Amino acid sequence: MICIEVCVGSSCFLRGSSKVIAEFQRLIAEYRVNASVHLKGCFCLDHCTQGVSVKIDDTVYRETYPGDVQRLFEEHVLSRFEVTGAGSTEG
Ligand code: FES
Repeated sequence: MICIEVCVGSSCFLRGSSKVIAEFQRLIAEYRVNASVHLKGCFCLDHCTQGVSVKIDDTVYRETYPGDVQRLFEEHVLSRFEVTGAGSTEG
């Protein structure tokens, strides 16, 4: 199980954490990995000054904006699955 946590603390919320969460939700549905990826909100990750903080398992990615989510998802989530065909994965 891969755990994605998106900070919903006040600073990150103002910088668009709800849009970041929506984008992760869209990608999880599109790639049908909801059984293997757990998405949840979390409180402050101590990197409040820019962008939205996202934690994937034990690593925090700072300065995340909605436009960055696809790249983050591909590099740090989808890369851990064996791709079996267009739009579907197994892991
Ligand atoms: S409010 Fe998100 S890292 Fe502090």
